Amino acid sequence: MGGLGDVLPVPARVRPVPAAACTIGPGTAVRAAPGTAAVAEQLATVLRAATGYPVPVQPGLSVSAAAGGGAVRLVLEDGHGDEGYRLDVRADAVTVAAQTPAGLFAAVQTVRQLMPVAGAGDAVLPGGVIEDRPRFAYRGAMLDLARHYFTPDEVRSYIDAIAQFKINHLHLHLTDDQGWRLEIAGWPRLTEVSGGPGTGVDGAGPGFLTAAGYAELVAYAADRFVTVVPEIDMPGHVNAVQVAYPELTRDGAAVAARTDRAVGYSSLCVDREQTYAFVEDVIREVAALTPGPYLHIGGDEADATSAEDYRTFLHRVLPLVAKYGKRAIGWHEVAAVEPPGTVVPQFWRTAADDAGVARAVAGGCQVIMSPADRTYLDMKYDADSPLGLDWAGLLDVARAYDWDPATRLPGVGEQDLLGVEAPLWSETLRSLTDVQTMTFPRLPAIAEVAWSPQAARDWDAFRRRLAAFGPRWTAQGIAYHRSPEIPWV
Ligand code: ACM
Repeated sequence: MGGLGDVLPVPARVRPVPAAACTIGPGTAVRAAPGTAAVAEQLATVLRAATGYPVPVQPGLSVSAAAGGGAVRLVLEDGHGDEGYRLDVRADAVTVAAQTPAGLFAAVQTVRQLMPVAGAGDAVLPGGVIEDRPRFAYRGAMLDLARHYFTPDEVRSYIDAIAQFKINHLHLHLTDDQGWRLEIAGWPRLTEVSGGPGTGVDGAGPGFLTAAGYAELVAYAADRFVTVVPEIDMPGHVNAVQVAYPELTRDGAAVAARTDRAVGYSSLCVDREQTYAFVEDVIREVAALTPGPYLHIGGDEADATSAEDYRTFLHRVLPLVAKYGKRAIGWHEVAAVEPPGTVVPQFWRTAADDAGVARAVAGGCQVIMSPADRTYLDMKYDADSPLGLDWAGLLDVARAYDWDPATRLPGVGEQDLLGVEAPLWSETLRSLTDVQTMTFPRLPAIAEVAWSPQAARDWDAFRRRLAAFGPRWTAQGIAYHRSPEIPWV
């Protein structure tokens, strides 16, 4: 048995009481207060997997220590914040309290890590109290389906894998020069042509999500308290659009499909109404399929769009996102157009400062931090990494862990941050195993940056907690990179 605080990401406050350890035994039941039934079932699944016991879920408010094992009680109560929770483990009972089901779900992820990897028979929860809540509301991972498509089953597996670290947003990069991966009503060639055979980097990543398949994915994520953030990248990164619909080019001529890794060569035509009819159709459809609050409009690397055209374009498109009820996120280049305070710039470059982002913050914007040299999961771990790129440098686990998002950019402090996201671009990836190997073990480092108080974080303690997680990934069938910095057990 590990200690009560041996969890990724490390909880905000931990008070161990070793004498109060609670045994999950053959008679343990989960008692679900009103409003907690769905999460209670998720908790029971965790306890069943760890013990092999039946662990029934029963409605009820009381804790009655059933024969052969303490009861585990779930309750909703005020005082824990949107996603915080309190886990109170005593010898005869366990109480999990939160203000919201999302907070209870976070607690379940903690309990899961305190249980044996895979068990048979009695399991012991360390005694004491955890009081935990996130530092930032937005804790994200991003998967690039454009450069290489991943199937709904693969994305579901990714959602399961990231949710256990309290990651609560999955940003899907759905469109780029090499492919378009989401069916859009009225524009069938987007997916028929640009989601078809031969698309993706090296032509190796074909496929697309139907509208229904996307909606199912969004619902699956929501059951795990993960909000899907769809990205439609524009006005650049649009070659796949123009291959499918040459009428969206300046001269209407056919466009060659591209499967190379170049960026910055394509642009929508900002001075044609047809462009905005297309963009509005897409934004309306994506917004209708997406219950979450955000719609990401890309905006990065628009090197084939003049600065003046870029401004014109965004001043037309940002209001469309609002018109369909969504809050726009854009890569931080969007800060150049002085966006309204509801827009969220996502900082991704490696520069030490960014005047545009600082100005946007002064104008009321919140920022997502994704500096490539700390959070880009497609960067190689070391010079020998077979997968990944290195334009932002090598990114070992220590580098992903050892930074403070609130001091990363001048003029962008703690209160200005919506959160932190770790993007995974897929130019070099060809399988779910590749995705997992690049994600783990760096994502838990970034999850701890985003969830845990800065003062509670410590590299040596993190390395030991991370090392202990290795057998869990193995048991879950998830590949991970055995970084030499970590004392794997
Ligand atoms: C980006 O990496 N172009 C956002």
